[in-house]
Amino acid sequence: MGAEIKGVDLSMPLPDDVQEGLRKAWADHMVLVFRGQHVNDDQLVEAAGIFGGVQEVGSRKYYFLKGGLGEHDHRVSKSHPSISIISNLDANGHPVQDNGALGSYEVTWHSDNSYVEIPPAGSMLYALEIPPEGNGGETSFNNQYMAFEELPDELKHAIHGKSQRHDSSRNSAGVLRPGAKLPTTLDEVEGPIHPLVRIHPVTRKPALYLGRRRVWPSNHIVGMPDAESRALLSKLWEHATQEKYAWTLHWQVGDLVLWDNRCCMHYRTEINPQYSRVMHRIVIKGESVIPW
Ligand code: SIN
Repeated sequence: MGAEIKGVDLSMPLPDDVQEGLRKAWADHMVLVFRGQHVNDDQLVEAAGIFGGVQEVGSRKYYFLKGGLGEHDHRVSKSHPSISIISNLDANGHPVQDNGALGSYEVTWHSDNSYVEIPPAGSMLYALEIPPEGNGGETSFNNQYMAFEELPDELKHAIHGKSQRHDSSRNSAGVLRPGAKLPTTLDEVEGPIHPLVRIHPVTRKPALYLGRRRVWPSNHIVGMPDAESRALLSKLWEHATQEKYAWTLHWQVGDLVLWDNRCCMHYRTEINPQYSRVMHRIVIKGESVIPW
């Protein structure tokens, strides 16, 4: 998992065969890293087009529709509302711990936007400002094809045909979304139902698809008694987040990274809030989840 692509300038139009090669590399390696890029938001959107185009980000409706923050929010690109600014800055441009989104918090293992009906195929993150080394904000990715392949047979058997409800109330740093209600019972958990194992539409390989985990009541296996569902999810999370499946990216300014939400999860360490970290992010258009 993870490949560095050299010799490609994403600010330029790319020939069809190069685009085809990039799509193949993405399918083969799950995470692509393009270093030393200089792209504006238009070029970022163009680059996303190579891999399927842009999808509206799942959290946007909470910010815009549920009376949150208005359309001139500092967490949305002014030129392209489909581009999110993933930063630890407040509205005045100062680094802070909490900016109402991911802020400087640790971001737990998750697959982007698994809490929407059609989750994005991938995500693209472009680094504009990063903290000095040793001040956090490093992002790890883990291989969920391999996690599924190595799952003990009894667990494979236990999850075959099973689905999970994906709680949409909190973001991956655990922050309640604007206007969302914190569930107090399982019945109050809102979000779509997705299979625990999904088939990747390009490689046709099965991968574990866990989404994210928050304190109870949150994600749960549909049609299974609560205690059993919690115990099974605990086993799956313990297995899926083993270090042997993960790889960590040490960011440099100008890195443009593309990952596949259908077969890997990602995690970010906490950032020292004395330092700014600013990224532009696009989520790539997805398709209905194919159950295993
Ligand atoms: C995310 O979870 O989408 C953000 C990852 C990061 O900030 O590195």
